[in-house]
Amino acid sequence: MLPILFLIPLLLSTTSHASVQDFCVADTTASDTPAGFPCKPEANVTSSDFVYTGLSVPGKIIDLINAAVTPAFVTQFPGLNGLGLSALRLDLGPGGVVPLHSHPGATELLIVKSGHITAGFVSSANSVYIATVKTGELMIFPQGLLHFQVAAGKKGAVAFAFFSSPNPGLQILDFALFASNFSTPLIAKTTFLDPELIKKLKGVLGGSG
Ligand SMILES: *[C@@H]1O[C@H](CO)[C@@H](O)[C@H](O)[C@H]1NC(C)=O
Ligand SMILES: *[C@@H]1O[C@H](CO)[C@@H](O)[C@H](O)[C@H]1NC(C)=O
Repeated sequence: MLPILFLIPLLLSTTSHASVQDFCVADTTASDTPAGFPCKPEANVTSSDFVYTGLSVPGKIIDLINAAVTPAFVTQFPGLNGLGLSALRLDLGPGGVVPLHSHPGATELLIVKSGHITAGFVSSANSVYIATVKTGELMIFPQGLLHFQVAAGKKGAVAFAFFSSPNPGLQILDFALFASNFSTPLIAKTTFLDPELIKKLKGVLGGSG
């Protein structure tokens, strides 16, 4: 009998302690930190903090890539803060592409909703893994690795992706090089690319320097 009596206060303290850690809806008026946003006061939390409707409609297509990437990361969906996951919607027009990019903070799981997508990533050992996935099929892109998605065939495609972090980050290789102020001589020096090609791509993507 005695050991059970000892257990009761322990159980009570464990359950009440757990309830205060159920969630930590982001206070997005504060700054994000490596540990996430601070929590909005629980009295201010409502059901709508746990719902995000922004992925229910196609995103706005960017002409250059004929694709729309619509994130539901913590800044768009504060309820994800501290919960270790997030999502996005990908709309690819015919021939649309998500150029070579990486998510420094998360592994990605892609689920195709309609159409066919050719996707791939390059490992740290420089092995290239490419597959064409169709409706209902899944593909993973391990954390931090460069990867891409392209609409396969003549039609567009729609997919959703899920990430192992509320804030996966997104770095697009061509934008880092040709949409930034990274100086052309240094890009040429550090990538072995031809300066004329660098200037041409900067003209298209808006880079300077
Ligand atoms: C919480 O709600 C109170 C009262 O409506 C408001 O004054 C306060 O700014 C809110 N705080 C946050 C972080 O949303
Ligand atoms: C590029 O621009 C940023 C501000 O946008 C500035 O802080 C940085 O020093 C610039 N870098 C170079 C190499 O010009």
